[in-house]
Amino acid sequence: MKKEKRNLLLNPGPVTTSDQVKRAQVIPDKSPREKEFQQLITKVSSMISGIAASSDRYKTILFGGSGTAAVEAMISSTVGDGHLCVINNGVYGARMLEMAKSYGISVAEYKSPLDKPITLTELEQFIKIQKTAITHLAVVHHETSTGLLNDIESLSRLCKHNNISLLVDAVSAFGAIPIDMEKLNVSFIAGSANKNIQGLPGISFVIGAKDELEKLKKVKAKNYYLNLYEQYIHFVTFDLFRFTPPVQTLHALKTALEELIKEGVDKRYERYISCWNLLTNGLKKLGLKLVVAPEHHSKLVSAVYEPTNKSYKFENMHAYLAQHGITIYKGKLAPANSFRIANIGDITEKDIQHFLHVLEKYLLTL
Ligand SMILES: Cc1ncc(COP(=O)(O)O)c(C=O)c1O
Repeated sequence: MKKEKRNLLLNPGPVTTSDQVKRAQVIPDKSPREKEFQQLITKVSSMISGIAASSDRYKTILFGGSGTAAVEAMISSTVGDGHLCVINNGVYGARMLEMAKSYGISVAEYKSPLDKPITLTELEQFIKIQKTAITHLAVVHHETSTGLLNDIESLSRLCKHNNISLLVDAVSAFGAIPIDMEKLNVSFIAGSANKNIQGLPGISFVIGAKDELEKLKKVKAKNYYLNLYEQYIHFVTFDLFRFTPPVQTLHALKTALEELIKEGVDKRYERYISCWNLLTNGLKKLGLKLVVAPEHHSKLVSAVYEPTNKSYKFENMHAYLAQHGITIYKGKLAPANSFRIANIGDITEKDIQHFLHVLEKYLLTL
């Protein structure tokens, strides 16, 4: 079969996908209210749950929407009248804080440096001095704006010790960085189809233990479309989305999950790490420096300080790379003088070598 045109997306998602994933969305027109589609929903949901926990005790609730939709469903549906603490050490932590505020959720912001690990003793102290007891803690597993990896294991111990529910935005970690929700006592995780799962954009999800999801019945809903409990009830009662689902994207997601399960989450992460090692060694040789030190790094997405050369302009570099079929992203606000390179998706070391070669050629033009 003829190969599909391939672009090398070294931006942090949507990622480069396999031909099988791209082709899986070309199907006969289908009603999403028929048995065949119900079975597909159930299958995809349990495949995702199985990556993070036991699919008997945990349930994955899918939503039509990007990663933000799942994070918003999680934040707006689980805290209710509780008191949320959001760890803000990057753009996506800040976004959860904004979400909580926009729903009128009682929220405290814990600010932590964007390039350093969270100081747990300080965080615990911060939690202890709150006038209203913290009931939920929200954190980003992998801060995609910098590449900083937050230590979920330590945070989960802190939460257990203080009887706090842990909410994790794992949008850019899930599918590569192994996580065991049961062992770590994580209440809810938000994820997306189009990053490490290597599916197509349009579907995101929240995973929770079934008993925790049942408890949401008593939590006052703050959102209509993204109401996690209502979507959960639809899933368990009818095996259906409440509203029109992205039919074709769900087919592609099933294929992507089959590929992920075949490769294995550990092995996928190993492949990404090999790409990252090659990438960062190459960047170092070109005189470029990462924002986050390797020991605190996810090894999935890297914020890189821009060259200081006066003739450098991100837009020119972006255009040069685009001419060679490569996409990278500008830094996300903090720090302002950075750009980002992701090494996730259906990519190999050969792709990274190609990228480094093109980047070197561009830098020689400065
Ligand atoms: C950690 C994290 N959370 C949330 C999002 C938002 O996802 P989306 O842009 O798909 O809405 C992203 C996107 O990169 C992310 O990396």
